[in-house]
This record gives sequence, structure tokens and C-alpha cells, in this order.
Amino acid sequence: MAKDVIIACDFSSKEATLEFLDKFEGCERKPFVKIGMELYYSAGPDMVREIKRRGHKIFLDLKLHDIPNTVRKTMKVLSNLDVDMCNCHAAGTVEMMKAAVEGLTREDGTRPVIIAVTQLTSTSQERMNDELLIGGSLKDVVVKYADNARLAGLDGVVCSPLEAGMVKEACGADFVTVTPGIRFADAAADDQVRITTPAKAREIGSDYIVVGRPVTAAPDPVAAYNRCCEEFLA
Ligand code: C5P
Repeated sequence: MAKDVIIACDFSSKEATLEFLDKFEGCERKPFVKIGMELYYSAGPDMVREIKRRGHKIFLDLKLHDIPNTVRKTMKVLSNLDVDMCNCHAAGTVEMMKAAVEGLTREDGTRPVIIAVTQLTSTSQERMNDELLIGGSLKDVVVKYADNARLAGLDGVVCSPLEAGMVKEACGADFVTVTPGIRFADAAADDQVRITTPAKAREIGSDYIVVGRPVTAAPDPVAAYNRCCEEFLA
């Protein structure tokens, strides 16, 4: 599994995104870019095509969660966008995740990597138990959701880096772990709860780290991205 740092381009316009990506022109490493709901809902599929045209790999993070038929048909539409990675919520059940894989698979049998969201990295143990009425430990729920994703034929999961090791143990070393909730040792957590540093994520065994604000809001985003790469890919 090729390890990489994915930058979460959580901007609300095409202009802001391209202005941000311009800063990386001429850099040795072309960043893997995550397009989430904010950017996709504002700038749409053209934004995906433009970033792809610039030579970036793309994780389209739309976190689909609906009835299986709707997810299958939506994934079919997304399969034409030539992204490298996309996702759905494991909470949608094994049946829904199977439908997602079916929809994403092109006629020639190829498809982007597809991963499932287990529990959002902003969710705490207490909120999961008390608000969502999901009992047990958060770690057990993440591992169970990851195993459901594996059963459904997905390639991996999005989880906290703190859970990546357990997911690998349960689902196998090749099962991909993509981990947001990354913060430098000397930075604020923002709204994230289950966080760690790029270096610790490497030690635990994440395949990809997703980093948003620590890079996008940094005074020097290229330097912050390079710091992530140095710590994570060392
Ligand atoms: O700015 P920050 O580094 O917190 O950004 C994290 C990114 O990862 C956001 O785009 C967020 O939507 C995404 N994400 C997450 N937790 C998940 C799945 C995705 O934070 N479980």
C-alpha cells in the first residue's frame, strides 16, 4: 500500500481552491487532494475534473449514506469522474456498502478505491453511547464497522489513527486505513476529538493521513504539508 498525505481542500469555492493549489505548483511532490461536501456542493464535478487535469490524485469524500438503490445509482454516476478514492458510511449496512461497490464498478471491472466511514473522528465515546444509543466501546464499534466493510467488498475504512492498528489486526494488513484527526504536537484540536500527530499515525500503521486545517489554515501551507510528509513518510 502506497502511503501518502491527503490534503482536505475544505474550501467553498473553485477560486479559493485553485488559489490554494497554485501554491504547490513546482513542488517536488504533487499533493493527493480530498474534495469534500463543501467544495463538491459548491463547485461540482467540474472542480473534480480541473484538479484531476492538474495531475493530483483525488479522494472524493462525499460519505454516501442512503438506501442501497440510491447509493448504487449515485456511485455509478461518480464512477465516471475518474477519482482515485471515494467513500460511504458503514452505518448504512453491509447491503448498502455492497450496492456502493456494485455501482462504482465500471463495465471493464475497474473502479476507484472505496472505503467506509466508521465513526467520525469528531464523535466521542460518550456521544456515541448517550446520543446515538450505540452501546459498547467506540473501538469495538469501529472494528465491527470495519469488518462489515471488508465483508461487503470495500478496500478499507476511514477511522481515527488511534484505531488503525486494531482495524489492521481485525481485517488484515492490506485493508486500507485512511485517518483524519491529524494535528501537529504544538497545535489546537479544533472540533476533532480522536486525534494524533503525523509521526504517531505512521507508527500505528495508517496508510493515508487526511490533513485539513493544519495545512490549509497554516501561514505557509507548503511548509506545513512538507512537515506532514516528513513526519508521516519518514
Ligand atoms: O481540518 P481537519 O484536519 O480537521 O479536516 C479533517 C477532514 O477529514 C475534514 O474534511 C473532515 O470532513 C474529514 N473527516 C474527518 N473524520 C472522518 C471522516 C472524514 O474528519 N471520520
